[in-house]
Amino acid sequence: MTPFNQFSQTYRERVNYTLGEKLKQSEHYESRLGEAMSYSLLGGGKRVRPLLVYAAALAIGKCTSLTDTAAAAVESIHAYSLIHDDLPAMDDDDLRRGQPTCHIKFDEATAILAGDALQTIAFDWLSETLTGNADTTAAQLQCVQILSKASGNAGMVAGQAIDLAAINQRLSLDQLTQMHNLKTGALITASIQLGAVSTCNASDTQLIALTHYAKAIGLAFQVQDDILDVTSDTHTLGKQQGADIANNKPTFVSLLGLEAAKRKANELYDNALTALTDFDNNADHLRHLAAYIIKRDF
Ligand code: IPE
Ligand code: IPE
Ligand code: MG
Ligand code: MG
Ligand code: MG
Repeated sequence: MTPFNQFSQTYRERVNYTLGEKLKQSEHYESRLGEAMSYSLLGGGKRVRPLLVYAAALAIGKCTSLTDTAAAAVESIHAYSLIHDDLPAMDDDDLRRGQPTCHIKFDEATAILAGDALQTIAFDWLSETLTGNADTTAAQLQCVQILSKASGNAGMVAGQAIDLAAINQRLSLDQLTQMHNLKTGALITASIQLGAVSTCNASDTQLIALTHYAKAIGLAFQVQDDILDVTSDTHTLGKQQGADIANNKPTFVSLLGLEAAKRKANELYDNALTALTDFDNNADHLRHLAAYIIKRDF
């Protein structure tokens, strides 16, 4: 197994374990609400955002208990965003990660509430006492700030609003880029910043460089998602292929064409690597994650 495959497997298992334990300890775990939360949080997914959290922490130094918490928190926000994204009022999708979407498996109200609860529980986890050490407590507050900004009307939610308003519209490349940066890039950038901050050891220069890296791969991630909507198939994706076309959504492929969208993803990959120039081999997992993001087939 390559070191990157080993890293991915180890840290996917690590975040899955953390998420499972945290949910089990949460209120109303055995209720229908708890079942819907577990269904959407524990039922698969590539765990790219947690891997980015861990890889950023390893690039700076080492993972801490706050790194584990941050990895779980960002994945919980992501799971909430997917539940709501799939609702009939939004993308109206029936399939996610090869399974019925939350509102199909349960019902719309339960899906909305499960999303709401997965959102707030992320901040509960980030703010609970970890070490009690003053540096950790300050870093926790910074993490709450990073994740709340990236999730809401300064980030993901704003992007989703633009996405829904853009149906049947033609966006300029700048508008499309802004929409992707917000709806997907913001949480990916937050993942990297959370990982760095969780070490309590990142310099401002390192944070700036990592943020450049994150912005490039954040946009690349959604460009590749747009590409896969056209080039992949429903079975491989675990979600309905062609959903963007069916909903008449502007995407990098609809605006630029497939080949130019692929070139854009490659250009962003190059930018991401350039941003890491001053980092040593400890940043190799970040380098491999950038490649994975533009080469993945689901
Ligand atoms: C899908 O995210 C939604 C986007 C932001 C494009 P992922 O492709 O990370 O979905 P999972 O978590 O692996 O299912
Ligand atoms: C989703 O974008 C971005 C989110 C904030 C969830 P998409 O709508 O393209 O994601 P998929 O293709 O349904 O996973
Ligand atoms: Mg959507
Ligand atoms: Mg969608
Ligand atoms: Mg998509």
